[in-house]
Amino acid sequence: MESNRVCVITGAAHGIGAATARLMSLHGSMNVVLSDRDKEGVDALMHQLNTIRPKSSIAFTTDVSDPKHVSQLMKAAYDRFGSLDVLINNAGISQSKIAKTADSSIEDWDRVVSVNQSGVYYGMKYAIPYMVEQGHGIIVNVSSLAGQIAAPNHVSYAASKAAVLSMTKTVALEYGRQNIRVNAVCPGYTDTTHFDQLHATKPELKERLLRATPMKRYAKVDEIAESIYWLCSDQTSFITGQALTIDGGISL
Ligand SMILES: NC(=O)c1ccc[n+]([C@@H]2O[C@H](COP(=O)([O-])OP(=O)(O)OC[C@H]3O[C@@H](n4cnc5c(N)ncnc54)[C@H](O)[C@@H]3O)[C@@H](O)[C@H]2O)c1
Repeated sequence: MESNRVCVITGAAHGIGAATARLMSLHGSMNVVLSDRDKEGVDALMHQLNTIRPKSSIAFTTDVSDPKHVSQLMKAAYDRFGSLDVLINNAGISQSKIAKTADSSIEDWDRVVSVNQSGVYYGMKYAIPYMVEQGHGIIVNVSSLAGQIAAPNHVSYAASKAAVLSMTKTVALEYGRQNIRVNAVCPGYTDTTHFDQLHATKPELKERLLRATPMKRYAKVDEIAESIYWLCSDQTSFITGQALTIDGGISL
């Protein structure tokens, strides 16, 4: 991969986002713009990366559900490094309650959709003008297996992740001519805080999912990060509008 590309990653303080940021910086030699609502987490990762590759990383406290934050993030990235080559829309949350649709709350729906769906929309809306201007761009949206198949008891999460896949295809079609590629990854169960929180109230569910997964384990964050990295590389220069499922075979 060409070095010194500029990569903005949302939700970069932990889990899949942090693993992707490390890979982009340390393996891809990119300048990484880390953003997260967790200031301490994102600052700590920035210091780690800058210790190894001085001045290659900056951190922003950003809530992706706030369009002003996202717009400022893209501007700051472009102003600091002079381009915006790659955007990883990764920030996401799960429902606070696992419940059938009639028992789910409207507050939860609004919260999940505002981060998982609107956050991805804002990211693309505010990054694309820089990409069009410079004549190239790569976007990877982090959806979920829950966006591809039915996800009982997770109606807002599933709907928001399906919307991410719809936006991925639409935006890929809109901007292919401008040399902007847009793809999505759909992780299955991945060992992160997000996954732990999701099943904190139902530990037996975690066991059941493990039994149902043909590979008999959860994904590691690095395995998802590697796929994101690949979709940003020149090896995939003619792939756009696609969703890559990374699930150890559970969808089969
Ligand atoms: N872990 C899984 O099993 C799994 C499966 C499929 C998809 N995903 C998706 O992968 C992505 C990353 O999740 P993860 O598993 O690494 O979770 P995680 O909880 O470990 O990390 C998510 C990060 O996003 C940040 N974040 C949350 N809300 C934010 C907001 N409003 N603005 C900015 N940052 C925010 C958090 O602070 C955190 O650093 C999410 O979109 C999630 O839906 C995860």
